[in-house]
Amino acid sequence: MMLFTPGPVAVFPKVSTAQTQEMMTHRGKPFQAIYQPIIVDLKSMLKAAEVHIMTGSGSLGVEANVQNALPLGGKALVLSNGAFGDKLKEHCALYYETRFERLKDAKGWNLERAKPHIDKAAAAGVKLFAMVHHETSPGILNKTSEICKYAKGKGMLTLLDGTSAWPAYPVDHVADHIDFYSFASQKSLGCPPGLTVVSHSPDAVKAIELAPVRSNFMNFKTYRKFAPKSETAFTPAVSIIYSLRIALDMLKKEGQSAFIARQSEMAEHVRSRLMKMGFSLVTEEGFESSTVTAFFCSKNKEINQFLQSDHGVKLGGGHADWAETTLRFCNMGDLDMVKIDAGLDALQAVKSKLGV
Ligand SMILES: Cc1ncc(COP(=O)(O)O)c(C=O)c1O
Repeated sequence: MMLFTPGPVAVFPKVSTAQTQEMMTHRGKPFQAIYQPIIVDLKSMLKAAEVHIMTGSGSLGVEANVQNALPLGGKALVLSNGAFGDKLKEHCALYYETRFERLKDAKGWNLERAKPHIDKAAAAGVKLFAMVHHETSPGILNKTSEICKYAKGKGMLTLLDGTSAWPAYPVDHVADHIDFYSFASQKSLGCPPGLTVVSHSPDAVKAIELAPVRSNFMNFKTYRKFAPKSETAFTPAVSIIYSLRIALDMLKKEGQSAFIARQSEMAEHVRSRLMKMGFSLVTEEGFESSTVTAFFCSKNKEINQFLQSDHGVKLGGGHADWAETTLRFCNMGDLDMVKIDAGLDALQAVKSKLGV
């Protein structure tokens, strides 16, 4: 099956095969020799003060970041424009008094739109600002850097759910004013599912030490105790760490700028061909994603069924506000222009067959 899905995504054969390496235990020198350079690479690529790898899906990293951010009685502001911003609000509301603002119709967040909400929240004593970097439900790239800069200037800690973002979009904790960040292995980096990477600024590290322990598995103080030994606090998905090593090597070899440019070129091609086929795109202009392109279509579920049964092609289904009216053509993982054109040709064939 050719996957044009929002994750898990098609895994490069080299990355997939790496999982079959001989198992090792997570305590001791052989593991440290693999883990330590991964952390060094990630810290340098993300310009983070600290990085930890957690075993679990993207939600684990997001919720762990949320629950380690503020002391008891803390207040949060969440800006959303899709399913994952809404989920982020649910995470925050478990621990903090949470304000919430939601844009509709796949509109993107920029500073102009975010500013009044941040101003009001700051005046009300909100200390945590949280939003999704790349909202996967329709594919919206929010302008998080300018927004986080402003929120930080108002005395807030900033937290981004980057589950589907890095490395398709650059992340620099310092230049982008990010305190808490996380991404998942099975999205843009093209690994199998099972790991989430959390990264922190010096302010986040201070906050972590001041926050109460709200769970054992998600307690970063424990992760921090194991970090100097280059080990994880709990048993990690060792096989996926082998894969992660190879995926990072491939990214370093290509160079992240080239990776980003390639993603963007593929998405531009997808948008252009979808529009030529007569589909209209969901996301507001200026906030387009380089990895997830949602388009309006009737019979969305039927189209995806025929794509699978007749062509061995699977697109992402419509999600959240767009569940019944859209499909998502995603370009992450082991894809190139040839495969993308094959997926788009299949879509054209099913479109004609169903007369939509
Ligand atoms: C932005 C974002 N946040 C959170 C999640 C949840 O991730 P997971 O299903 O890996 O827990 C996803 C999944 O698609 C996502 O795209």
